[in-house]
Amino acid sequence: MRSADDSGRSFYITTPIYYVNDLPHIGHSYTTIGADAQARYHRLLGEPVLFSTGTDEHGQKIARSAEARGLKPQELVDEVVEAWQRMWKRLHIDYDRFIRTTDSHHVATVQYVFRRLRESGDIYLGEYQGWYCIPCETHLLESELVGGDCPECKREVEQVTEPAYFFRTSAYSDRLREHIERHPEFILPESRRNEVLSFMGEGLRDACISRGHTEWDIPVPDDDTQSIYVWFDALINYLSQVGYPDDLDEFGQWWPPRLELMGKDILTRFHATLWPAILMALDLPLPETLFAHGWWITAQGDRMRKSKGNVLHPYEVARELADISGATTAVAVDSLRYFLLREVTFGLDASFSWRGLLSRFNADLANDLGNLLNRTLPLVERYLEKKIPEPGPGAGELAAEIDRVRALVEQEMAEYSFSAALVAIWELVASANKFLDTRAPWTLHKEAKQVELEAVLYDVLDCVRVLAIMVSPFMPAICDEIWRQLGLESAGAEKSWDDCRALQLPSGIAIEPGRPIFPRVDIRRAMDRLQARSERAEQSAAEQQAVARADTVTIEQFAQLDLRVGTILEAHRIPGADKLLRLIVDVGESESRQIVAGIAKQFNPREMLNINVVVVANLEPATIHGVESQGMILAVGAEEPEALVVADRLCPPGTVVR
Ligand code: MSP
Repeated sequence: MRSADDSGRSFYITTPIYYVNDLPHIGHSYTTIGADAQARYHRLLGEPVLFSTGTDEHGQKIARSAEARGLKPQELVDEVVEAWQRMWKRLHIDYDRFIRTTDSHHVATVQYVFRRLRESGDIYLGEYQGWYCIPCETHLLESELVGGDCPECKREVEQVTEPAYFFRTSAYSDRLREHIERHPEFILPESRRNEVLSFMGEGLRDACISRGHTEWDIPVPDDDTQSIYVWFDALINYLSQVGYPDDLDEFGQWWPPRLELMGKDILTRFHATLWPAILMALDLPLPETLFAHGWWITAQGDRMRKSKGNVLHPYEVARELADISGATTAVAVDSLRYFLLREVTFGLDASFSWRGLLSRFNADLANDLGNLLNRTLPLVERYLEKKIPEPGPGAGELAAEIDRVRALVEQEMAEYSFSAALVAIWELVASANKFLDTRAPWTLHKEAKQVELEAVLYDVLDCVRVLAIMVSPFMPAICDEIWRQLGLESAGAEKSWDDCRALQLPSGIAIEPGRPIFPRVDIRRAMDRLQARSERAEQSAAEQQAVARADTVTIEQFAQLDLRVGTILEAHRIPGADKLLRLIVDVGESESRQIVAGIAKQFNPREMLNINVVVVANLEPATIHGVESQGMILAVGAEEPEALVVADRLCPPGTVVR
């Protein structure tokens, strides 16, 4: 663990790279907001910081999601990655590097590592027999399945037997165990470290790091029958982010990472075992700390799942909070960041509740921090013509308290205890509020004690300045607004951690009071409104789930399908979508439909003309690759279309299929 004394040492901090088959939710944001707060704090300390994040774009999951949407995987990832980057911007995430595993320099690094380890004998060709969980992209042993399903996501697994490359993790078990035992800061929190040690048991088994060739994954170099396993590919992002192996100057500047943050689900199997073993095989130093945080679940205690309709998207939550409170969206975003990092000790699980968020918003932000500012600035306006006074004799009364809190925050941040750091900062907020109450500038004014009045107001304003800096890693936009209202932005004042000391506030500056940053929320009314909304959402999710769950259909449900014979009149390729054809199909009653079908790889458009296919004629229209599809044609084949379902030529278009 490091402290503020480390200034000058570089601070390379990483988040996991996120799968792009989904949009970011509160859970993903938690890892990234935590990393952002640490990165911002270390920048304030004056250290060179490199904060990296990115997207994990290979794997079966992505290929299948793309196929389901009739897109090429590259098209899907290009589209979704933008949503992730937009989200990070909206959540005030200030990363330095964003890697995509489809970036050519990353692909080259992965292939370099693979080659090198195969040459050194750390990677060898064997045979994989077992189970594979596609959603988790994880190989599993029979003994690891729970009720036949994946132990992590509880979904079905697939059986596979295939030649595959293995990484000799087993060879590094002893060294790794020794490293973990000798470096208590390597895996945090401590409870996770114990979990990793017990997972390692008598030793690690070799990891399967390839699978049969797929179109979408990184090919194994010099073996076109195999592709690289997505986790092997993904972990190496931490190396390719900093120039490995081509730019060793750059690499030397940042390696090893000081902090790798992740959720507890991806610590044991991947980051705490496979990853350090790969680094040992490459003769590279290990990251200083792997920190696994807890899991955010819903207020009802459920894991967030798209299929359950209970996923919370951070920006939507922030917008709702802005709407409820009247705060700006930027303030609401920061309030959510505050809530996530304050509500629970980093490392433990937490459940998200609106009541919890609104209570913290009112108590900590509106009442404590907001009030301090809202009480102080009008006094400066009234008694001091809006100007920050000279400190004068007697100022600096809060100096010791500021020093105490600064030291506490440094200690807590060095231990990644965001919540405790915020508790400490709020002790300073309370001290400043109390100081204002007991030194009562309004009385000093009445008693015409101008020197004392100025000293007291100087101290409070100075303390607000310190608080703005202290909260900035957590709430950057709120810090900026306080800075602006103090007049420090116009004065061009810079922020550094070293300025979190008393008597550094420049005098003579004109304050610029604005609207209260945190308008108080009427929690009861807000909860009623949220309740009504969530009931509506729950109902529609339940309806959708009921439809999705049913594994049989009634004859009435089947009868609802309008299946008809259709004759293909035209077939065209769609530019930029090499799987899709645009068909014009005569579906009878002089009606022709435009239908987009994912069959371009198997069928030549010219050969399609005049074929009588089976059309689902009452399918809801959808836009696929910018082209409206007014139905679907049926094909045979589970993965790829192998043949079309055709009707006898004697059937005219429009003939009902039953
Ligand atoms: N792609 C892999 C990581 C590869 S890193 C070399 C992956 N991606 S993920 O998108 O599924 O998850 C990324 C991070 O989000 C993980 O740290 C995970 O723990 C975190 N979270 C996802 N849902 C979460 C919650 N509900 N709560 C807290 N964090 C969780 O895994």
